[in-house]
Amino acid sequence: MDESTVSRMHLPAHRILPFIESKDIKQRVSEIGREIAVAYPHQDEPLLMVGILKGAAVFLADLVRAVPRQVEYDFVAVSSYGSSTMSSGEVRILKDLDASVAGKHVLVVEDILDTGLTLRFSYLLENLKSRNARSVGVCVLLDKPARRKVAIEVQHCGFAIPDYFVVGYGMDYAEQYRNLDYIGIVEFLER
Ligand code: IMP
Ligand code: MG
Repeated sequence: MDESTVSRMHLPAHRILPFIESKDIKQRVSEIGREIAVAYPHQDEPLLMVGILKGAAVFLADLVRAVPRQVEYDFVAVSSYGSSTMSSGEVRILKDLDASVAGKHVLVVEDILDTGLTLRFSYLLENLKSRNARSVGVCVLLDKPARRKVAIEVQHCGFAIPDYFVVGYGMDYAEQYRNLDYIGIVEFLER
């Protein structure tokens, strides 16, 4: 597949510019993995890492293998916020955890933190705390601080990046490019 210039059907003409190489992602993921093990030093306190579908699936899969301690993992799906539902205050967790979080350290794993609205309006963090998680933390591969609308406390972050729309390593543009092993910037082409 040549990703350098592509025009996918029904999508505006665009190309993918390489941004973060696979080897740099690997390097950073292994650093974060060790950082997480240090942050949860008590082996007898269970650690549950929770990926948010679908974007975090690739990152979570690599990350759990980079944490040198016992971990459990699971996934949740949250509805993407839309302007019409944003103020409704409903809990929109579409796929919940399979097991109880009571007494466990829970680390929510996200591909990218942008406005922060997904985490805020899904009430995921509050929800986990109310279910008696021992602690609730957040780990993101990428952070776009310039775009933040609501404050979210992050314990582990891979890379802070400028306001680019990125794809690859789990992240998509219209469901495409999730399987790239590097992270690229979507550049829209003049027509
Ligand atoms: P937030 O709610 O604005 O923080 O956005 C979080 C979610 O939006 C992420 O988990 C992604 O699914 C998606 N997202 C935000 N920025 C990007 C991007 O640059 N590329 C792909 N997906 C993104
Ligand atoms: Mg996501």
